[in-house]
Amino acid sequence: MVTTPLLPSDYLDLVSPLRAGADLRGRIEAVRPETADAATVVIRPGRGWRGHTAGQYVRIGVDVDGVRLWRAYSLTSPTDREDGRVTITVKAIPDGKVSNHLVRRAAPGTLIHLDQATGDFVLPQAKPAKVLYLTAGSGITPVMGMLRDSESDAIDDIAMVHCAPQPQDVIFRDELHGLVAEEKLRLTEVHTDTDGMLDIARLDALVPDWAERETWACGPAGLLDAAEEHWTAHGVRERLHTERFRPSVVAAGDGGEVTFSTTGRTVDADGATPLLDVGEEAGVLMPSGCRMGICFGCVTPLKAGAVRDLRTGEITEGEPGVLIQTCVSAAAGPCDIER
Ligand SMILES: Cc1cc2nc3c(=O)[nH]c(=O)nc-3n(C[C@H](O)[C@H](O)[C@H](O)COP(=O)(O)OP(=O)(O)OC[C@H]3O[C@@H](n4cnc5c(N)ncnc54)[C@H](O)[C@@H]3O)c2cc1C
Ligand code: FES
Repeated sequence: MVTTPLLPSDYLDLVSPLRAGADLRGRIEAVRPETADAATVVIRPGRGWRGHTAGQYVRIGVDVDGVRLWRAYSLTSPTDREDGRVTITVKAIPDGKVSNHLVRRAAPGTLIHLDQATGDFVLPQAKPAKVLYLTAGSGITPVMGMLRDSESDAIDDIAMVHCAPQPQDVIFRDELHGLVAEEKLRLTEVHTDTDGMLDIARLDALVPDWAERETWACGPAGLLDAAEEHWTAHGVRERLHTERFRPSVVAAGDGGEVTFSTTGRTVDADGATPLLDVGEEAGVLMPSGCRMGICFGCVTPLKAGAVRDLRTGEITEGEPGVLIQTCVSAAAGPCDIER
């Protein structure tokens, strides 16, 4: 009663936000530039943090201009870092709300919300003898988490092909070259401004035994789609593990009028824009997480109308009890979303 309308825990949060039992938070302790548009954010997680496996990602909630936004970032620190801190490495993308905030404006001392680490883009318990990492741009981050982790010592032969526009855009370049000098890594950099986009068939020349290697690939959809086709065509699809930062949209259609009935807003939407973006743009409070269909942090009741799953084209009709993932669903005619 003394603390109403706040809870006692709200006051505890003011003095001890990282304590055990509090909602999981982290404190940004440093932001270190990596390239012109990428930075590593050093985070001290609260007491409830359960650690991670190399290659996994964490969802973080950041307040940007007074709005809490959630995004997923791969962990780039080794799992056994002695000071207990973790790092993510973020590349600012044009008009990106959270990535620009973290790279250019986040200050040490800032508290952020954290989820436990998750994801299955990880090395197996029994380490393969030969590995290929195929990465581009910020897709290097989960692989750097693996390369830095002591579990990499169990792999005899690691080859890596990494694409970036120019040498200065290669995140972690000095550290990668350090691993090459120590003969722990064979690295091919593809500089797409001068070499052009990587034609996946070039792998035969770059890493002749690529098909024998267990491969982890992370980068833009074009690279991953090409890799999946290539590995499938050579009958070794099971050796390819991919991590996507964005959903691959295969099916867009006609849009419609979207009503957010709880907020009382109605807007026109096309058939390709996720309802999550439509709602946020309209000022509706939309829960979210990975924004690519894997975490279910955006699940919302569809009261009426129809939506299309952008990954499959499947149409879902609204009725009581029907839930949709707003980050991978677009309007397929008029619809009513319970937000
Ligand atoms: C499992 C997972 C791991 C991830 N790990 C990392 C990581 O280690 N480092 C990192 O920098 N990012 C990572 N991401 C991407 C990250 O979650 C955000 O999507 C990214 O930072 C953009 O968020 P934003 O708020 O800046 O952009 P928004 O404001 O959400 O979007 C701005 C514009 O950019 C487009 N856009 C959104 N995301 C991307 C993207 N990834 N690439 C290109 N265009 C985009 C949007 O469609 C929109 O037009 C990861 C994503 C997932 C799902
Ligand atoms: S935000 Fe993760 S599934 Fe939609």
